[in-house]
Amino acid sequence: MKISIVVGDITRQKTGAIIVGLFEGKKILDSPVVILDKALRSVISRLIKSGQIKGKLDEINIIHSLGELPADRVVVVGMGKKKDFTTDRIRGAFAEVCRQLKKQRVNDITIVADGVGINAITMEDSIQAMTEGTLLGLYSFRKYMSGIEDKPIDIKKMTIVADRKANIPLVENGSRRGRILAEAAILARDMVNEPANYMTPTDMAEVAVRVAREHGLELTVLDEKEMQKLGMGALLGVAQGSCQEPKFIILGYNGRNSDEIDITLVGKGITFDSGGISIKPSSRMEEMKTDMAGGAAIMAAMTAIAQLKLRINVTAMIPAVENLPGGAALKPGDVLKAITGKTIEIITTDAEGRLILADALGYANMLKAKRIIDVATLTGACQVALGSICTGVFGNDQELLDGIIAAGDIAGEPMWQMPMYDEYKEQNKSDIADIKNAAKGGAGAITAAQFLAVFAGNTPWVHLDIAGTSFADKERKYYTKGATGVPVRTLVNLIMAISDRK
Ligand code: BES
Ligand code: ZN
Ligand code: ZN
Repeated sequence: MKISIVVGDITRQKTGAIIVGLFEGKKILDSPVVILDKALRSVISRLIKSGQIKGKLDEINIIHSLGELPADRVVVVGMGKKKDFTTDRIRGAFAEVCRQLKKQRVNDITIVADGVGINAITMEDSIQAMTEGTLLGLYSFRKYMSGIEDKPIDIKKMTIVADRKANIPLVENGSRRGRILAEAAILARDMVNEPANYMTPTDMAEVAVRVAREHGLELTVLDEKEMQKLGMGALLGVAQGSCQEPKFIILGYNGRNSDEIDITLVGKGITFDSGGISIKPSSRMEEMKTDMAGGAAIMAAMTAIAQLKLRINVTAMIPAVENLPGGAALKPGDVLKAITGKTIEIITTDAEGRLILADALGYANMLKAKRIIDVATLTGACQVALGSICTGVFGNDQELLDGIIAAGDIAGEPMWQMPMYDEYKEQNKSDIADIKNAAKGGAGAITAAQFLAVFAGNTPWVHLDIAGTSFADKERKYYTKGATGVPVRTLVNLIMAISDRK
């Protein structure tokens, strides 16, 4: 989508639709609604008076201008009560409106730079949110649909009208940031929506090559032999049941002049999780192509970090592996040795995420990461506990935990901290090895996190379980059905906050 920024009078804009927000229960209209109302001979205020327009959250009224304005339509979108106003409401409302306008075959929209100071939301933030909501809400994945007669037209152009020249830099920054974040989330969505036969570990490494080239990132891809040399026995154990070669993808971004790695991102990259020998039920197994959503999210976050030129050093590690029950597959009862030397008894080959992450976390520590954040579609238990609304957050460092929760809040990607009492460690004890990969006794999301904690060691570490949040069963807010791109924007927000503190 082309985004252009102009200074001027909105009543002079020739466009398919001007979109403006309206709070619930407001008697006096603010600009820009008041200006449009005047140009439309008080149609808006009359509709408010008659009760047709209430301003309730996400209520949409499309008013055809019938020649009263150069714009074909004015869309009044309800923002709910002013006291509850958030940037996430802006994102949601814009997504909703743009989807409706797309259905009406509108192909260019105009928005107005406004919303300064309401609940401490700056103009920059509100423009960012409008841009994110529009781009994320209009997303679709139609790559494999052929011969569709009635392809919906996309909204191709968005014009942002600023009232004054002085506001242009703010508007530019907001829309640029919004675009970078939305495009990063969309890259993650595209990777996750891709069928597993087109997103193998090798394909993931190819995406990394493209991303590294486009954004000037350092790239290393370890192959099976190199992983063997490093002693990544847990990861290789998972890989041995598939014909697809595993890849360990490492992307590096250096934003400050130092060898230190300020933060290491680790993402689960199981390109398909059949469960292995502990095979999953066939119902909904196709959804397990999304088991690389953590890896996709961190790869996508790196593209945003590079474009925003943050002054921080970040390394991303993506163990990419397919979990299949081939003839050479890992079996329940087997024992594997991870990169740290710890031995792991396999209880179920379906708890494979923690195995590949064990080696990745161990490797992150070998490279002396100062902080680690891992992102994984790790447990069905987390989905049961928190549904599709909140990501489960676990860790060993409250400062980093608070940072990620705050970053999630800004992104509109809620994060819920789960308990990590020592008592839960008991459930991971093995009779024959140092630890086992699946526990009895409930709290499956926590025992999985406790398993990872062993490999994270003393490094400040946070684990995000996105099993429930990486994929949407239905359209909601600015999510379309399918991959959500969670938690790309949260990760970028967090890294922005950490880099600002330096
Ligand atoms: N990839 C799954 C977790 C998952 C479930 C992600 C639903 C997305 C939606 C993971 O590898 C898995 O199979 N976990 C098992 C662990 C158990 C066997 C200890 C689970 O959660 O059932
Ligand atoms: Zn599994
Ligand atoms: Zn899995």
